[in-house]
Amino acid sequence: MKEIIFAMDENSPKYIQIYQKLKAYMEQGDIQPNEKLPSIRHLADSLQCSRNTTLIAYEQLQSEGYIRSEGRRGYFANTIEPIWIHSNSTVKANTPPKQKKTQIDFRAGAVDPTHFPIKAWRKYTNQVFTMPQTFTYGEPFGEECLRQEIAQYLFQSRGVHTQASHIIIGSSTQQMLINLGTILKPTFDHILLEDPGYDGAKEAFQFHQFQLEYLPVQQSGIDFSDFDVYKSKIVYVTPSHQSPLGVTMPIHQRHMILQWANNNEGYVIEDDYDSEFRYTQKPFPALASIDSSRVIYIGNFSKSLLPGLRLCFMVLPDLLLEDYQKAYINFENTASKIHQLTIAKFMEDGEWQRHIKRMRLVYKHKMQVLVAELQQHFGQHITIIGEQSGLYLLIKVHLQKSESWLIEQATLFDVQVYSTAPFFFHSSPSEPILKLGFSNLTQEEIIKGVELLKESWL
Ligand SMILES: Cc1ncc(COP(=O)(O)O)c(C=O)c1O
Repeated sequence: MKEIIFAMDENSPKYIQIYQKLKAYMEQGDIQPNEKLPSIRHLADSLQCSRNTTLIAYEQLQSEGYIRSEGRRGYFANTIEPIWIHSNSTVKANTPPKQKKTQIDFRAGAVDPTHFPIKAWRKYTNQVFTMPQTFTYGEPFGEECLRQEIAQYLFQSRGVHTQASHIIIGSSTQQMLINLGTILKPTFDHILLEDPGYDGAKEAFQFHQFQLEYLPVQQSGIDFSDFDVYKSKIVYVTPSHQSPLGVTMPIHQRHMILQWANNNEGYVIEDDYDSEFRYTQKPFPALASIDSSRVIYIGNFSKSLLPGLRLCFMVLPDLLLEDYQKAYINFENTASKIHQLTIAKFMEDGEWQRHIKRMRLVYKHKMQVLVAELQQHFGQHITIIGEQSGLYLLIKVHLQKSESWLIEQATLFDVQVYSTAPFFFHSSPSEPILKLGFSNLTQEEIIKGVELLKESWL
């Protein structure tokens, strides 16, 4: 431990406070046996006290056997016998909890690590570090160069006509929804969500205590039959690839939902989260491409490039832009400026589009392998849902077993598959539906994973 810092008060001598704090850290396992302690000088600097004070505290700890001095190497924590440990102190176990070895993890929310364009990314990051503006804070709504690139991409690939000035860069979809909620809440109380739907959006809306209403979604699509009974004037949807069921909103429903927002003077929040990866047809144009006057469009780089980048963007209609700018002009942007500048260069040189094209083929192949393996091994025992697009699919399992049994049984065979229960808000599926992501598994791992699933379930 190089640094220790804590607040001290005026009620007792400082050396006693330091002695007590370090003793407690050792007893609780925050300082581990044989861990090096900060030097007397360093600790005195961190705690803003004299060296004499830290020296006395260390001498006291040494005399009681808590620490030892190893001459020039400094002070080290000793192993404390359990009998010394105060009964009400919480002791952290030194050994990490036993982790189950998962051989094949069908986790969604990851990308293929072997195809990340690391060389190009390094090149552009290096270039960014030669730019003087890299060393300052960024623009409150995101870097202009990236907003320009996104505007171009949205027009070319998603049919959305917008300008850089309407684009807000942020670090995550949820963060954008929370920011958006701040300006919507004074006018709107209710929000309509797809059910099943994206739990992350639900959490963000709950943060502002919106009253939530639910729009039923089936494998055939959204059920709009009761659309007029809702109190909401805002709806959050995932039209290109419904999350989680994977259906695409047909054109007549797109027109209907836009009409609804216009009639109600409300808004449609369009989360276009993984539209780049559509395998059977060309990507559908975004809802915002038909009429963007009451559409708030949200996109991200998590699926198309890397979730760890934490970069997403939102396009605001004219009607909301001023309110948003007023509310956030004095806030620093939470997205990394370095990543923003890097990705702008990456896009400017056409690398992003090339990467998406490449990855569409890679993921299409993986999806085909997964579907073929599931069909071969499970036949009529499962129904595959949402295999036309995205980085995961769902399987409805017809085995008269509960979702938890299926997940636990798979774990025993070293395979991890995922529950969809968190996405069902008011509804629940008639049979268990599991989520299988494949993006960072190899073809061999996918094949092996499905074989193990079969062994575990049938
Ligand atoms: C429906 C939906 N929207 C957006 C996202 C992306 O969220 P983030 O911007 O935090 O990467 C996800 C991630 O899985 C998602 O499922």
